[in-house]
Amino acid sequence: MEKREQIYEGKAKKVFATDDPSLCIVSYKDDATAFNGLKKGTISGKGVVNNRMSNRLMQLLSQDAGIPTHFVKELSDRDTLVKRVRIVPLEVIVRNVAAGSFSKRFGVPEGTDLLCPTIEFCYKNDELGDPMVNEYHIYACGWATREQVRSITDYAFRVNSYLSDFFLARGIILVDFKLEFGTLDDGTIVLADEISPDTCRFWDSATREKLDKDRFRRDLGGVEEAYGEMMKRVFG
Ligand code: TMP
Repeated sequence: MEKREQIYEGKAKKVFATDDPSLCIVSYKDDATAFNGLKKGTISGKGVVNNRMSNRLMQLLSQDAGIPTHFVKELSDRDTLVKRVRIVPLEVIVRNVAAGSFSKRFGVPEGTDLLCPTIEFCYKNDELGDPMVNEYHIYACGWATREQVRSITDYAFRVNSYLSDFFLARGIILVDFKLEFGTLDDGTIVLADEISPDTCRFWDSATREKLDKDRFRRDLGGVEEAYGEMMKRVFG
């Protein structure tokens, strides 16, 4: 399958059409941004890590947890064939431990275990700073139907439960993560976008060292090393 015209360029990926209208090719870049694009940089090798890790996790989620995903086939270190979907304009965030904007918004110290996993929906719009919304906002604006939100919520918690166990077995606490979903032509929801150190918080379970994009966001250094370490934990 070959790349045709570029359909879209995001902050970390490009999307290309293929000869098959139901499929497209995602190409992962090393570009990194934070704070809705205000902070810009490069993380050398990130595109390869995110592409390969995301594909592995989506394959496992599909096979072992029955989560439908957009993944079709890894074409190279940076390129993957995926189902062409219409992205639901929501960032779906699941949290197990307080960190980041949760800690800031609610005054709960980073690292506090939450009594149960939480879910948040944010409207995907950089200019507005991805504002948090509730389910009524989603229905009122027509971003997704009630049935679609029900599927998204169910899948998001199942992804959390599967991946929390997967990472804990590899010495990693899955603190929180962001998912995006898409719809197929018949409205069916599938997991899309990526699952990677860009979109998850990963802490070493012994040392609590951060092994994700927070090293870039917060200028902690050792960014490439952290992505490399997460590759080793996932692929052994
Ligand atoms: P937050 O604490 O900043 O809201 O982030 C929660 C999770 O979502 C964290 O794992 C990082 C991820 N995330 C993204 O993938 N994209 C984003 O634009 C933001 C703000 C967070």
